[in-house]
Amino acid sequence: MSNQTPVLRIRGLTKHYGGVKALTEANFALAPGEHAAIVGDNGAGKSTFVRLITGVEQPNDGTICIDGKEVNFDSPLDARDQGIETVYQTLALAEDLDVPANIFLGREKVLVNLGPLSILNHKAMREESVNMLATTGVKIQDMSETLRGMSGGQRQCVAIARAAGFAKKMIILDEPTAALGIQETARVEEIIKGLKARGVPLIIISHNLRQVFDLADRIWVFRQGRIVASVLKKDSNPEQIVGLITGAVSPDNVPGATDLLTAISVFRET
Ligand SMILES: Nc1ncnc2c1ncn2[C@@H]1O[C@H](COP(=O)(O)OP(=O)(O)OP(=O)(O)O)[C@@H](O)[C@H]1O
Ligand SMILES: [Mg+2]
Repeated sequence: MSNQTPVLRIRGLTKHYGGVKALTEANFALAPGEHAAIVGDNGAGKSTFVRLITGVEQPNDGTICIDGKEVNFDSPLDARDQGIETVYQTLALAEDLDVPANIFLGREKVLVNLGPLSILNHKAMREESVNMLATTGVKIQDMSETLRGMSGGQRQCVAIARAAGFAKKMIILDEPTAALGIQETARVEEIIKGLKARGVPLIIISHNLRQVFDLADRIWVFRQGRIVASVLKKDSNPEQIVGLITGAVSPDNVPGATDLLTAISVFRET
């Protein structure tokens, strides 16, 4: 990947909440088509990182480049407009709407465009929703039912189907299978492998190292609000990653683990 412009390049990203240093000077890069995993203990700053790069919150410091161009997302909609789809750890779905309305929330299909009086194309949205959900394998008995009656796992599948269906540039999943059963987890992992085959770059946050080693090309380790290591999966193993997460293994003793954090020249700069 050394001669490619990264699809995502982060430098010095920092977020402090009062005295809490949630994220400090994070450097990160994602190559075209690459699937990266982010690991780290509870409170290590992983979700904060996702909120900063998708415009949910603004950083105190640092820069974010997409395809070599610096961006400033004022809101999650800004990021979405650029083809970045995110499934947040705390779900952003509307309980009182049905599945198609949730999937097309903010990008409704219209038959007649009259601004706020537009007539929506419910049939098209319903049909596309059925297709998107089919990819996750989740069974929704009645598409006109609101999300209120659904389990956490079913809701999660709706969110993942939505993100996978719309992702053009990149997809970010914050612990997508933490609440899912074995079958649903397997299906979501199939979706992720499908995105890999389509060349859609992806970031997945997971505590499940079996999953991480199954899905990721590269693993980024967060520890106490800092990114401490970046290793290629093929050069690592679960024991080493656990050691990096807990601090038992020093990144200085892992060949290549700190290269991407410091030597920006790993990627061609633009
Ligand atoms: N809005 C906030 N206000 C104050 N502190 C916050 C806020 N959001 C996060 N933090 C703190 O920032 C740190 C990092 O939190 P974050 O949610 O990013 O961790 P995480 O790595 O995603 O953890 P987990 O694996 O439990 O999801 C924690 O100490 C957390 O308490
Ligand atoms: Mg989190």
